[in-house]
Amino acid sequence: MSLLFVTGTGTEVGKTAVTAALAALAVRAGRSTAVLKPGQTGVSATEPGDAEEVARLVGASLTTRELARYPEPLAPETAARRSGLPFLTLDQFTHAVGELTERHDITLVEGAGGLLVRYDHQGLTLADMAAAVEAEVLLVATAGLGTLNATTLTAEALRARGLRLAGVVIGCWPAEPDLATRCNLADLPTAAGAPLLGALPAAATATPGVPFADLAAAALAPALGGHWDADAFAAAHRP
Ligand SMILES: Nc1ncnc2c1ncn2[C@@H]1O[C@H](COP(=O)(O)OP(=O)(O)OP(=O)(O)O)[C@@H](O)[C@H]1O
Ligand SMILES: [Mg+2]
Repeated sequence: MSLLFVTGTGTEVGKTAVTAALAALAVRAGRSTAVLKPGQTGVSATEPGDAEEVARLVGASLTTRELARYPEPLAPETAARRSGLPFLTLDQFTHAVGELTERHDITLVEGAGGLLVRYDHQGLTLADMAAAVEAEVLLVATAGLGTLNATTLTAEALRARGLRLAGVVIGCWPAEPDLATRCNLADLPTAAGAPLLGALPAAATATPGVPFADLAAAALAPALGGHWDADAFAAAHRP
């Protein structure tokens, strides 16, 4: 996989954390890695955005790129409209992806919020961007009650656009999973029509003393470069 889009069942679900885990494993495997955040909202001009947060978590050399930034914590279209700053364009996006994929072994693209969040007044979405460059999509899902519906909706929207869902990763697996969370391990692959490819533990981005790449390897399946075992994980948490 040389180009992978990371979307989520919503905002604040762990897309950046999972993108960092993917990048950490790619870098450790000796692959040149780029992280692209097409539209960053909710940070001022001087604050680090999600791409920089990925670089911080990985702690190694990584290309980061951002194409548009708006200070208010809103969907990109709304934030652009309110700020008077230009919308991101599909041309700008495909150009950047072309440049990054040419120079890197792997390019990770992190969307803003969920799949169908708008980037411009004509309704440009991350799904349109993935379609334009024929990329696969990884879905970061919440762990608990409500995730099956959001996962099903996202999977259906991807299928309707002819996009391939590579799998689902739980962005933040709690230390004490409740009944719904544990049941979801069996039901998420059905909802997604794609395999569960990992579960990042809740402390992953703030665990002192353990290299982040080690945490990433333990939390992501072999298809994503780690050694997480879906069957063993499900068996350990079976209600
Ligand atoms: N596995 C995890 N371990 C520790 N913290 C996490 C984990 N997953 C998410 N978080 C924390 O939850 C918050 C949201 O996570 P993150 O920024 O990765 O979400 P996101 O889906 O990228 O959000 P956005 O839509 O704003 O891009 C962050 O403060 C992050 O540090
Ligand atoms: Mg993010």
